[in-house]
Amino acid sequence: MPVSLKLLKTSTFRLAAVYLVVFLLSVGAILGYVYWSTVALLEQQTENTIEAEVQGFAEQYRQRGLNGILDTVRRRSRAEEDSVYLLANQIGRRLAGNLASLPQQAAGNTPGWIEFPYEVDSPRGIRHHQAKAFYTVLEGNFRLVVGRDVEERRKFARIIRGTLFWAIALTLVLGVGGGLLMSRNFLRRIEQINASSRVIMAGNFAERMPMSGADDELDRLSTALNEMLDQIERLMKGMREVSSNVAHDLKTPLTRMRARLEDALRGNGNDHRDALQDTIAEADQLLNTFNALLSIARAEAGQAREGFSQMDLCEMVRDIAELYEPTVEEQGGEFDIAVCDGVDVFADRQLMAQAMTNLLDNAVKYGRDSEQGSIKVAVSVEATDKEIHIVVADHGPGIPEADRERVKERFVRLDESRSEQGSGLGLSLVAGVMKLHNGRFELEDNEPGLKARLVLPRPAQDS
Ligand SMILES: Nc1ncnc2c1ncn2[C@@H]1O[C@H](COP(=O)(O)OP(=O)(O)O)[C@@H](O)[C@H]1O
Ligand SMILES: [Mg+2]
Repeated sequence: MPVSLKLLKTSTFRLAAVYLVVFLLSVGAILGYVYWSTVALLEQQTENTIEAEVQGFAEQYRQRGLNGILDTVRRRSRAEEDSVYLLANQIGRRLAGNLASLPQQAAGNTPGWIEFPYEVDSPRGIRHHQAKAFYTVLEGNFRLVVGRDVEERRKFARIIRGTLFWAIALTLVLGVGGGLLMSRNFLRRIEQINASSRVIMAGNFAERMPMSGADDELDRLSTALNEMLDQIERLMKGMREVSSNVAHDLKTPLTRMRARLEDALRGNGNDHRDALQDTIAEADQLLNTFNALLSIARAEAGQAREGFSQMDLCEMVRDIAELYEPTVEEQGGEFDIAVCDGVDVFADRQLMAQAMTNLLDNAVKYGRDSEQGSIKVAVSVEATDKEIHIVVADHGPGIPEADRERVKERFVRLDESRSEQGSGLGLSLVAGVMKLHNGRFELEDNEPGLKARLVLPRPAQDS
C-alpha cells in the first residue's frame, strides 16, 4: 500500500478529519449567521428610513401640494449624497430629483420595493451604481421614487463573503496538512513498534519496544509491552532452568537405580530381593519429587483453588508441630509451641499442611546448633486484624542473607546441606503455596538460626 494511502487510513488522520469537518461546520455556521444577520439588519435599517421618508413626502404633498413636494425633492437631491429621488408626472417625465429618468422597474400603479442600476457623476467619471428604492404613486398620478445607493453595502457583503471563503479554504488546507503530518509521526512510531515485534518474533528476546521519551500514550503502551516482555523472558528463563534442573536431578537417582539393577542381575540370586526393595524405595523417592514438582507448578499457576475450604489454622499447625515434638525431644532438643486458638481461614488444608511439614523438616534437619549439637525449634502462630503470621524458628547456622531468595527456587540446596537427604524442592513448595494464598514467605535471621515466616492476609471480618 502506498505510504500516502496508509497515512489516510491511520486513526489519527481520521480523527483529525472528523475534527476538521466539525470545526469547519461550526465556523461556517457562526460566520454565516453573523454575515446573514448583519446584511439583514442593514437592509432593514435602509428600508425603515426610506419608508419614513416616503411617508414624509406623502404628508408634504397632502399639505402643500405639488409645489411643496417639488421643493423638498429638489432640496434633498442636492443635500443627500447617498440618496436617490425622482418625482415624475403621469407619463413618466421627470419633474425633480437626482435620477435622470424613471427606472424601468418603476412602472404601473402598484407601489413597492425596486432595485435598479443608475449612473453617478463622480470626479472620476460616470459610475454605475445599484440603488434600492420604494416606488409609489401619489394622488394625481405623480410617480415618486425614494431610495438609497446600496453599492457600498454590496461591496461590503462581497468582501465578507470572500473572507469567509478564504478563511474556510485556509482552515481546510491547514487542517488536512496538520492531520497528515500528525498521522505520519504516529505511523512512524507504530512502524517502529511493529519492527521491534518482528525482531522479537524472529527470536531475539532481548529486543524491546522503542520509547520516544515524550511519555505519551504510545510510550506508555511501549512501557507496558516491555514489562510484559521482561516478565515473559523471566518466566522462560525460569522454565529453562527448571527443566535443566529436573533433568539433572533425576539423572542421578535413575543412574543409581540402573546400576543397582545391573549389579543384581550379575550377582547371585539372594541379592535380588534387596535390590528390588531398594529400587522401589528409590522409585518412591522419584515419585515424591515429581509430585512435589507438580504441586509447586499447580500452586504457582494459582489454579488449585478447588482445594480451598474454611479451616482452623491454629489447630492444623498445632497438630503438625506435635508430630515433630517427640523427634526433637528424643534427641534432647527443645520444642516450643505457642499457637493461637480458633483462627479460621479460607485455605487449602493439604497444601498448608505440606508447607508446615517442609519448614519443620528443615528445622529438624538443618537447625542443629553447630557447636552444642542440640536442636531448639519454636513454632508460633499470631493473628492480627489484617494478617496471620506463622513462624518456624531454629538455632542452627541459618541461611546467609545473599541466599535467602535463591533457596526458594526449585532444586536449590546450599552446599553445606549436601550431607542431608533432600531434593531442594521444600522451600519452593512453601513459596508456591504462599503465592496461591496471596500471602508472603519471608526468611529472616533468628540470631542465631533461621526464622521462616508465613504471612497470610486475613479477609475483612464483616461483623
Ligand atoms: N532451617 C534451615 N537452616 C539452614 N538452612 C536451611 C534451612 N532450611 C532450608 N535451608 C537451606 O535451604 C535449602 C533448600 O531447602 P529445601 O527447599 O527445603 O530443600 P531440602 O530440604 O531438600 O534441601 C536447603 O538445602 C538448605 O541448604
Ligand atoms: Mg527441605
